[in-house]
Amino acid sequence: MAKPSQRQKNALEAKTVCFFNNKGGVGKTTLVANLAAELSLNHNMKVLIIDADPQCNLSQYVLPDEDFISAYYNEGSKKLAEPETIFSVIRPLSLGKGYNPNLPIRHIKEFGIDVIIGDPRLALHEDLLAQDWREAKAGGIRGLRTTLVFHNVILQARKSYDYIFFDMGPSLGAINRAILLAVDYFVVPMAIDIFSSWALKNIGEAVKLWEKDLAYGLSNSEFPSEVPSFSKKNLKFVGYVTQQHKERSRDGNARIVEAYEEISKKLPAVVKQQLNTFYPSSMNPHLGEIKHLASLAPKSQTLHQPMISVKAKGSFTVSRKQAREIYQALAARFFENIDLLAAQK
Ligand SMILES: Nc1ncnc2c1ncn2[C@@H]1O[C@H](COP(=O)(O)OP(=O)(O)OP(=O)(O)O)[C@@H](O)[C@H]1O
Ligand SMILES: [Mg+2]
Repeated sequence: MAKPSQRQKNALEAKTVCFFNNKGGVGKTTLVANLAAELSLNHNMKVLIIDADPQCNLSQYVLPDEDFISAYYNEGSKKLAEPETIFSVIRPLSLGKGYNPNLPIRHIKEFGIDVIIGDPRLALHEDLLAQDWREAKAGGIRGLRTTLVFHNVILQARKSYDYIFFDMGPSLGAINRAILLAVDYFVVPMAIDIFSSWALKNIGEAVKLWEKDLAYGLSNSEFPSEVPSFSKKNLKFVGYVTQQHKERSRDGNARIVEAYEEISKKLPAVVKQQLNTFYPSSMNPHLGEIKHLASLAPKSQTLHQPMISVKAKGSFTVSRKQAREIYQALAARFFENIDLLAAQK
């Protein structure tokens, strides 16, 4: 028998990762977009990002301005356009039409990635997902099908990508529950403050409960063949990324302000305590620290380019180099932990 070719051996089967913290503004969107760009542009990975945050910040970041506006409004009219967004994935379910077989995927050249762009109308469907969750837990077909909507998106796209990332809004609501139940892995972006470390406790407790409820619902489903096949293992924790506040220069040296240092030192113990059931004790869950990159962040937003390839001169040359070093190191640690987790039985 012929040996399988390299391509067959490396057949695409996406690892699915969500980036979550129910504390807002901790740099989730910036991290998702820039890590995805690093994996694609420097590691030749095929990455799809699903913008599942009704704020649509990720879509606004990566899409050129004219594409962002035309995605939501028909030309010349103020009417909302027919959705070529995440809304078209959810809407048919709310109309009782089942899953949409065509995913609205578009390519973003500057970031080297594909995206399903977000939609503010997704917020309207938080209620649908919340109501149907009650039914899902009892084994109701409609409830299970709605709850598994993102799982079904993954089944549709999985064979075309190395990674599927989800950017999420800062809440433990129904949309995020459906995502956390659908993906294999999660990353927690964190600010160095006690609020964002509380998020670790919330997520750990919530996920365990939801996984149990969903398993119960699936085992009690009257018509299992009507529900997408679900053989996913429990969610695993890839690690956390800390975002550094601005550095203060003292004696000519840049240092972390002491109060932050205090919290920062306690973080490893807090992570271990709250999330130890989501990763093996041999894994170091701290993926890295992202320095405050000053005006490189807003510049990359206005240019719709990843921070590692912002085409601007002057002080940006220095911060772009820093961004490259940060994301290179982050990608290496990300791969290391993903490999370790994927090798686990
Ligand atoms: N490394 C960085 N250096 C400088 N500014 C940054 C950095 N990372 C993020 N920011 C800025 O911090 C702000 C919040 O970032 P971002 O939108 O990524 O957070 P978020 O967690 O996704 O927020 P939300 O909870 O609203 O979704 C943005 O204005 C962004 O430009
Ligand atoms: Mg965000």
